[in-house]
Amino acid sequence: MSAGPKIVLDRVTKRFGERAILNGVDLSIEAGESLAIIGQSGSGKSVTLKCILGLIQPDAGSILVDGESVIGLRGKDQERVRAKFGMLFQGSALFDSLPVWRNVTFGLTQGRSRDTAHMKKVAEENLERVGLDGKILNLRPNELSGGMQKRVALARAIAPRPEIIFFDEPTTGLDPIRADVINDLIVSLVEDLGVTALTITHDMASARKIAHRVAMLYDGRIIWEGPQDRLYDSGNPYVDQFVQGRADGPIR
Ligand SMILES: Nc1ncnc2c1ncn2[C@@H]1O[C@H](COP(=O)(O)OP(=O)(O)OP(=O)(O)O)[C@@H](O)[C@H]1O
Ligand SMILES: [Mg+2]
Repeated sequence: MSAGPKIVLDRVTKRFGERAILNGVDLSIEAGESLAIIGQSGSGKSVTLKCILGLIQPDAGSILVDGESVIGLRGKDQERVRAKFGMLFQGSALFDSLPVWRNVTFGLTQGRSRDTAHMKKVAEENLERVGLDGKILNLRPNELSGGMQKRVALARAIAPRPEIIFFDEPTTGLDPIRADVINDLIVSLVEDLGVTALTITHDMASARKIAHRVAMLYDGRIIWEGPQDRLYDSGNPYVDQFVQGRADGPIR
């Protein structure tokens, strides 16, 4: 285990065709830290996350995880690095054709023997962690409410006990109470299990609750970062406009 930061992005750039989406993203996340990224729709938050996950290749710059470059990894090296990651995708991304228990254990069953009773038990334990009842084990995701689907996706993300978890808008579409259940879960993953967390969110209450530090992505760069308690006192007109949700200001 290296002593440096858990994740470091250095001048990461990414364009799609003529459009530069990331224009030199610099970001560093310590082990056990919870960082939230905020920014407008389409500003490249999910793209940033996918670059770290290795799902999108950046055009330039470097991305280190535990001091190791993760760009362009293949085969066993890629598997080894991906085993550190858990991911809650924007919009849950569950398999509707599979029962809940298979969704939750999906990342555990590949290449291993399938002891159904054991896998159901593992699924149940992880569902309980996210506040869901084992009674839903055999249901299909499309038989659940959106909030329950989100929690099933969260149970899937934590099942392999990853070192780093990425949450892409974990509270979007949930009622305020369910959203806070997810917030508490993220806090407990970080505090009790020592997980490093990177969360994308449009929910400022959630950002303040779950993150130690917040970074704002704008115009392809991180234009501000600071402790969560400075979010409403950043001294940055872009951050002010964004967190206050004002139509007028430097952001057009
Ligand atoms: N694979 C791709 N090919 C082409 N363009 C893409 C691809 N992925 C993302 N984009 C574009 O990059 C831009 C940033 O997308 P991204 O999904 O990162 O936005 P975001 O900040 O996560 O927004 P939101 O808050 O709405 O989820 C968008 O304009 C999107 O259309
Ligand atoms: Mg997104």
